[in-house]
Amino acid sequence: MDKLLITGGYPLNGEIRISGAKNAALPILAATLLAEGSCHLSNVPHLQDITTMMSLLGRMGVELIVDEKMNIEANSRSVHTLEAHYELVKTMRASILVLGPLLAKFGRAQVSLPGGCAIGARPVNLHIQGLIAMGADIQVEGGYITAKAKRLHGATLLMDLVTVTGTENLMMAATLAEGITLIENAAREPEVVDLANFLNKMGARIQGAGTETICIEGVPQLTGAEYSVLPDRIETGTYLVAATMTGSSIKLKGTDPHLLDAILVKLREVGAKITLGTDWVALDMQGRRPKAVNIHTAPYPAFPTDMQAQFTAMSTISEGVSILTETVFENRFMHALELQRMGADIRLEGNTAIIKGIAELQAAPVMATDLRASASLVLAGLVAKGETWVDRIYHIDRGYERIEEKLTQLGAKIRRVRNHV
Ligand code: EPZ
Repeated sequence: MDKLLITGGYPLNGEIRISGAKNAALPILAATLLAEGSCHLSNVPHLQDITTMMSLLGRMGVELIVDEKMNIEANSRSVHTLEAHYELVKTMRASILVLGPLLAKFGRAQVSLPGGCAIGARPVNLHIQGLIAMGADIQVEGGYITAKAKRLHGATLLMDLVTVTGTENLMMAATLAEGITLIENAAREPEVVDLANFLNKMGARIQGAGTETICIEGVPQLTGAEYSVLPDRIETGTYLVAATMTGSSIKLKGTDPHLLDAILVKLREVGAKITLGTDWVALDMQGRRPKAVNIHTAPYPAFPTDMQAQFTAMSTISEGVSILTETVFENRFMHALELQRMGADIRLEGNTAIIKGIAELQAAPVMATDLRASASLVLAGLVAKGETWVDRIYHIDRGYERIEEKLTQLGAKIRRVRNHV
């Protein structure tokens, strides 16, 4: 397995380009199953999860043409298999996003249950309940969801919890259902809005995406469409934290700073000077050490859970005591245990981490456990004294395009060491 070797203590500077959002590209790729005709997608990030989703669609018979810039043409006219098998789904939970489109377009689907993951049980009961309310016959046995529906019908779906992919699955299913579907207590994430914009370009009739109530009027069919995926707000936030931790000044291009208000509020609180453009954000820490800050994760527009690990890493070297509370997932502090091995003063109490900032972390061999945890360990390596080895970086390759190249471009001392085992 590859590892990343990071030599800490180097400030960052310069500018890099942000990639398209993984968590928008994944549902948008699944949505191509709904179209009569070809879809053309651009600004798709080159990530393992995207490759996995394309393998999944390809095995169903979706025709995919991909160029070197990851522009993708997808056409579902030859789909012959309506299944998503466990060996692919277990590597990427977002495979569940094919369930709604398959059911709506083809009337049948057999999708492996995603199973749990390091950060929590992550059930999909709300996806299933919503589809049943829309008239699907669903059996769950042997680790698989088997779903059938002649034609789904509209329904009012009051979601028990805010679920991003649950909202996305049900919104996609509703585009071809008979009548009107209301999704109440819907997820408001920008990636949900991006999917709705793509579906509307395909001829769907969706209103209210980005608010807590989404209204979808079913239509007989959707056509192919062209679409450029929105920039990745979590990648943007991750590099902004890297600059804040190292006392640096950087500029991130090809992004949309208005997608990350909650993150920018907190970065200003720790002392960062931030300037914004329409498609760029610049941060200058002027060589100063970040101040402690309190974080409480919650669904958008509140502070995103996908940035908690990065702020945990920053808090380990901030001035003062930070309190970080994780309310979305039940087990999303594994990175804290690895950061403690680097000398961090972190006390875990249930879903809260109390962190007393220290002057300097000590380099140590650490292990990534999930996507954002691995990013936090890379960030810690940028400031730790000595050489930090980060193992199991297949996690990081799922969500960060060319992270070592982008950090090297900013002046970090980081390289990938291939393990030819
Ligand atoms: C999406 O996951 C993202 N993934 C996650 O990003 C992100 O952390 C998460 O939303 C929260 O923002 C993609 O978009 C591909 P949820 P998702 O359903 O949709 C519970 C990353 O780092 N729940 O919003 O799976 C669930 O257990 C990844 O890129 C149910 O109980 O998350 C969790 O506690 C990690 N039943 C809470 O809701 C359900 O049917 C929120 O989960 C669905 C969810």
